[in-house]
Amino acid sequence: MMHTRIGTDINKAIELLTQDEVVAIPTETVYGLAANALSGKAVLKIFETKERPQFNPLIVHIRSWEEVSRYASAIPDIAHRLARKFVPGPLTFLLRKKEIIPDLVTAGSEFVAIRVPKHPLTQTLLEGLPFPIAAPSANQFGYISPTLPEHVMDSLGGKIPYILDGGPANVGLESTIIGFNEEEEVIVYRAGGLSVDSLEKEIGQTISDLHRESVSKPKSSGQLKSHYAPGIALYIGDIPALSHQFTGKRIASIQFKNRYPIDPEIDQYVLSADGDLNNAAAQLFKTMREIDQKDYDVILAEVFPSEGLGAAINDRLYRAQAIFKTE
Ligand code: TXA
Ligand code: MG
Repeated sequence: MMHTRIGTDINKAIELLTQDEVVAIPTETVYGLAANALSGKAVLKIFETKERPQFNPLIVHIRSWEEVSRYASAIPDIAHRLARKFVPGPLTFLLRKKEIIPDLVTAGSEFVAIRVPKHPLTQTLLEGLPFPIAAPSANQFGYISPTLPEHVMDSLGGKIPYILDGGPANVGLESTIIGFNEEEEVIVYRAGGLSVDSLEKEIGQTISDLHRESVSKPKSSGQLKSHYAPGIALYIGDIPALSHQFTGKRIASIQFKNRYPIDPEIDQYVLSADGDLNNAAAQLFKTMREIDQKDYDVILAEVFPSEGLGAAINDRLYRAQAIFKTE
């Protein structure tokens, strides 16, 4: 077993990444498991460490949007416009890849996912590196994405040399992934840390269901149903009503802002007592991990309001639910 250190030493991270090692890094969305995106050898270590199937491509993180044309071509005007508004930030662009990006990074696709993360430590890190970094979320494949360095330690401790500690990820959901069709219209591949509402506002029109990839068309690993599943059955719906179906069981419930006058034995996890969906999003994965570590028989969750980040929260809850409900 490797000794895993946690710290804020950017030079240490630079040194390791330059030696084709993997390093966990903070971003505003979730922690990533980084390696030199231009080195096949380094990228392979990401897949091995996460036990992630190689058909599942990785996001390339660059230091600023100005560099996008080094790695991608045929960039639509609308991409530049959205980038001016939302980059750096929780938005990933699927663009036609240039030769320089190894096929392993894109799993053979001609499209590469690119994003500019907005976290001061990681921005400084990228400025100190002569290459971009490939980074999936820094969890064991199929588990909940990490929003704290300790989460990374729990999943990958002993397997990686260093975790760059940037504190809690303040968005708390993975980036929103968009691509473009032939007409240069925006397609949403994964709802995430930038709300679809904000995208629509900037584009000036709504993004129809036809322009949203669904779970039935898996293109992103976030689309694998089990991806965010904690190891306990999870039911989504009206919490007081559901709670009656499980009397005698040890129950945790995940809810937006209200506590319910139900059986006091039920542990109610309120994600944002002040009713702020951004705050709720920031708490979601941490709460799911906490619940997973305790001895519950059942998790109940309510449907969140579908505006803003609520839509992405619901998406993660449904994915966590889907596989377990049938067991
Ligand atoms: O916020 C985030 O996006 C975090 C941080 C670390 O940047 N990263 C992240 O990576 O969530 P990961 O690998 O857990 O999820 C990235 C998703 C995967 O589902 C992958 O299938 C999809 O992006 N993806 C990456 N490259 C792609 C490509 N070339 N074509 C289609 N999907 C791609
Ligand atoms: Mg992931």
